[in-house]
Amino acid sequence: MKKEIILSGVQPTGKLHIGNYLGSLRNFVELQKKHDCLFAIVDYHSITADYDPRTKQDEVIELGKEFLAAGLDPKKCTLFIQSYVPEHMELAWILNTVTPVSFLERMTQYKDKAGRQKQNINLGLFDYPVLQAADILIYKATTVPVGKDQEQHLELTRQIARFFNNKFGNTFKEPKTLFTDTPKVMSLLAPDKKMSKSLGDNHCIYIDDKPEVIQKKLAKAVTDTGDGKSLGAKNLIDLVKIFGDQKTYQDFQTKSQTGNLQYSELKQKLAEDIAKYFSDFRKAKAKISDTEVKKVFITGSKKAQAKAAKNLEEIRKKIGIR
Ligand code: TRP
Repeated sequence: MKKEIILSGVQPTGKLHIGNYLGSLRNFVELQKKHDCLFAIVDYHSITADYDPRTKQDEVIELGKEFLAAGLDPKKCTLFIQSYVPEHMELAWILNTVTPVSFLERMTQYKDKAGRQKQNINLGLFDYPVLQAADILIYKATTVPVGKDQEQHLELTRQIARFFNNKFGNTFKEPKTLFTDTPKVMSLLAPDKKMSKSLGDNHCIYIDDKPEVIQKKLAKAVTDTGDGKSLGAKNLIDLVKIFGDQKTYQDFQTKSQTGNLQYSELKQKLAEDIAKYFSDFRKAKAKISDTEVKKVFITGSKKAQAKAAKNLEEIRKKIGIR
């Protein structure tokens, strides 16, 4: 049986919050133990949103450090930066020629983002899913670990692979989506929305937040939204389940059901548990220098590029360009 080839990408848009972490890095660290894995910092995707070119490099380095500090090991997997492997962009162009515009018009993420950045509905934003397909197909990846929100992009990737194969001969396998068990983490201040950096720093717990910052943010977290749903309270109890031990979770569950729950107590304990959960991570991150992280990712990018270039040469021949 052939080993799986796993690929995933994360956009460099600042530090990760606990929701991002649970949806990506936590799973990547497990996957690298058993499979042939490639993990990319997808910087060319990130420039399709409004951004500041002066901080982009820092964001790439920051995310690189978080990959390493979370336990991704360049001896066990390939860690790279998308823009260092320009073959991705070349394949995206080729895939553009087999992708119907009408399919891209249906992408809900595109419509959402276009609605939010009305002054910057650029062609790159529209083409984003094709570059994502290229990220995956250039390595003939078999499996892509992502959150539920990426399902439509993965389905499109499979369709693009199929269209290409039909037109130019069997080249790509259709990659599977690996929906990792990703708990939905809600905003601390608006618990009806997903935790997101765009809502503001106080809505999020970043994985490198210091213990006192975590405590302050949780102290302000909304519990009862007054709509009878208590989404905030539910979110906090869910977080206890993820970051605390089972007994703590059971205790708070029981207290909640019997109406004896003290939110100040829960928040205090949760703050301690989250701080503890990421304590090794914070120490590791602080020790990694910019130079070191660059070195790791440049070396990884060369490894990735060797594979990408080989596959791209085959693809160019298939389409009559060599
Ligand atoms: N669109 C993905 C996200 O926002 C990021 C991404 C880009 C990706 N290229 C990828 C994920 C390739 C998986 C595989 O989460």
